[in-house]
Amino acid sequence: VFMHEMMGLSVLERQLKDILQRDNIVVVPGNSDEQEWVKQEMGKACVTFLKENVSSDRTMAVTGGTTMAAIAEMMSPFDGDTECLFVPARGGIGEKEENQANTIAAKMARQAKGSYRLLYVPDPLSESSYRTMMKEPAVIDILKIIQGSDIVLHGIGDAITMAKRRKTSNDIMRKLREKEAVSEAFGYYFNAAGEVVHKVRTIGIHLDDLSESSQLVITVAGGKSKARAITSYFKQGRSDLLITDEAAAEAILREN
Ligand code: BG6
Repeated sequence: VFMHEMMGLSVLERQLKDILQRDNIVVVPGNSDEQEWVKQEMGKACVTFLKENVSSDRTMAVTGGTTMAAIAEMMSPFDGDTECLFVPARGGIGEKEENQANTIAAKMARQAKGSYRLLYVPDPLSESSYRTMMKEPAVIDILKIIQGSDIVLHGIGDAITMAKRRKTSNDIMRKLREKEAVSEAFGYYFNAAGEVVHKVRTIGIHLDDLSESSQLVITVAGGKSKARAITSYFKQGRSDLLITDEAAAEAILREN
């Protein structure tokens, strides 16, 4: 049974690589919409990858979300003498405390016996407060660390689900619907073609930073309900590794 399952998943992985046109995809069994442990399985796969490919002196920027929170739970100390440093990839973005990037960065550091730096900014930020905050030495300092991070770990959400979870204003909700937003990552909302249709103004990593950088970007997102969102992000989004689950993979294959 085990071998059969393994073979089934590797076929799924191969088909998904073709459709999303990426080389590195890992599919774990299950559906994280329905089974909470599947997020932890994706978390385990992520931690295993990090342990095998990343040295202990690295800086990792993480986004928020329940998937990232599950990765934090699975995190454990790295081999080596130097500590990993964890930072939030972006400020705020309207999440519950346990799902915020700050909380997750701190938890990952605790589990990995590493260190962390936090970034407290409200969101969405107005243009003028953004400019003011960007002059604060403490903000500049942590932003440098975030933008210079070696690894970026992030989730993908269904656009409308995320907008509701963030208690987004009616105006913006309307805009997202009009522009047919499908996915969300880093506070950016994308349509089916992977074009940015809206972004939450906050401080931290911007998509432009990502496309130009040598950072290793790891995407973790699963569940049948995220199939369209994953496809949308991967139309144009920067990612070096996708970790997903069987239900998302099957739905992506069906829809494409
Ligand atoms: C958010 C991230 O906090 O979590 C988003 O900033 C991501 O980029 C989202 O889309 C995913 O959340 P979850 O709970 O589905 O893992």
